Amino acid sequence: MWGKLGEIVMRYLITGTAGFIGFHVAKRLIDEGHFVVGFDGMTPYYDVTLKERRHAILQRSNGFKAVRAMLEDRAALDRAAELAEPEVIIHLAAQAGVRYSLENPKAYVDSNLVGSWNMLELAKAIAPKHLMLASTSSIYGANEKIPFAEADRADEPMTLYAATKKSMELMAHSYAHLYEVPTTAFRFFTVYGPWGRPDMALFKFVDAIHNGRPIDIYGEGRMSRDFTYIDDLVESIVRLSHIAPAEENRVAPEKATDTLSRHAPFRVVNTGGGQPVELMTFVETVEKAVGRPAIHNMLPMQQGDVPRTFASPDLLEALTGFKPSVSVEEGVARFVEWYEQNYRRAQTIV
Ligand SMILES: NC(=O)c1ccc[n+]([C@@H]2O[C@H](COP(=O)([O-])OP(=O)(O)OC[C@H]3O[C@@H](n4cnc5c(N)ncnc54)[C@H](O)[C@@H]3O)[C@@H](O)[C@H]2O)c1
Repeated sequence: MWGKLGEIVMRYLITGTAGFIGFHVAKRLIDEGHFVVGFDGMTPYYDVTLKERRHAILQRSNGFKAVRAMLEDRAALDRAAELAEPEVIIHLAAQAGVRYSLENPKAYVDSNLVGSWNMLELAKAIAPKHLMLASTSSIYGANEKIPFAEADRADEPMTLYAATKKSMELMAHSYAHLYEVPTTAFRFFTVYGPWGRPDMALFKFVDAIHNGRPIDIYGEGRMSRDFTYIDDLVESIVRLSHIAPAEENRVAPEKATDTLSRHAPFRVVNTGGGQPVELMTFVETVEKAVGRPAIHNMLPMQQGDVPRTFASPDLLEALTGFKPSVSVEEGVARFVEWYEQNYRRAQTIV
């Protein structure tokens, strides 16, 4: 069976499809004619209405079926897998957010450790062609060597969030070794765009400017982040989904240092573009896109924050021929357009 772009139709189980990234990944795949079962527990970490609106859009397609349940519920995962019969599993559901891990550590242990272990057990039982897991740039902690390369040491997490994601990578390596499930863990770098997360800086800044509230600028503005526009991330995920880790696709050392394990079909890949932006430049970009200056509330660095993130995109590029390229000017402008047309208006109507 062939999809709309002439590709073979594939079956996916994706967790976290009511979330920001999962929504976009699922949408792209169903738009191309693939089948997706989306698994999400609709956790109340942020505005559940936004999550429901994302799922409602996906549910307009016959290619999408939703299962509303928690990762900790192994029986529910089994049911979702029966429905999906997935060739590829993309595990994106998690308790995200760096700062909230100081407030509610248990949510991270439940979702990211127990939940991810359940996903590994599921993959062991049903043997998909490829298991893909969302990790994070946070695992590089306060590393000073830049850009952050996948083979660098990442053993000094600054938050429990980072520690749970690093633990997930380690658990996944052991399962890939023992049960031969080809597994890619991708490390995302500050992903942003339309339908984004209300707990992240861009959403908070735009919302505050629109409502005449000051914006909190941590680290007195002396921080930088390697931002990734959502469409660039989705492109990386889709391309990587066709490259299950195996000796046949080991990258030549002159191109990049491959993290393909010598002991398991397991690889870690950064999905950032390697173009970090200073926080104050980012604030100016947001102000320009909204068309109004923000009131700046300069604050010290928050506990658990890292001064910079900066991805080496070499391995991603060597594997996929692609690296993120949408500029923050363009990406922020697209977010602001979405916020004004879709979010702000919806809030006003409600
Ligand atoms: N957005 C980023 O910049 C970023 C950066 C690095 C890593 N990540 C990782 O990418 C993934 C997706 O992030 P996002 O930005 O889309 O976050 P999100 O919070 O928008 O989406 C996560 C989804 O998972 C669901 N979920 C959480 N815990 C669950 C559980 N125990 N059982 C079932 N469902 C549960 C939530 O309801 C939510 O819809 C996460 O694993 C996150 O840690 C995101």
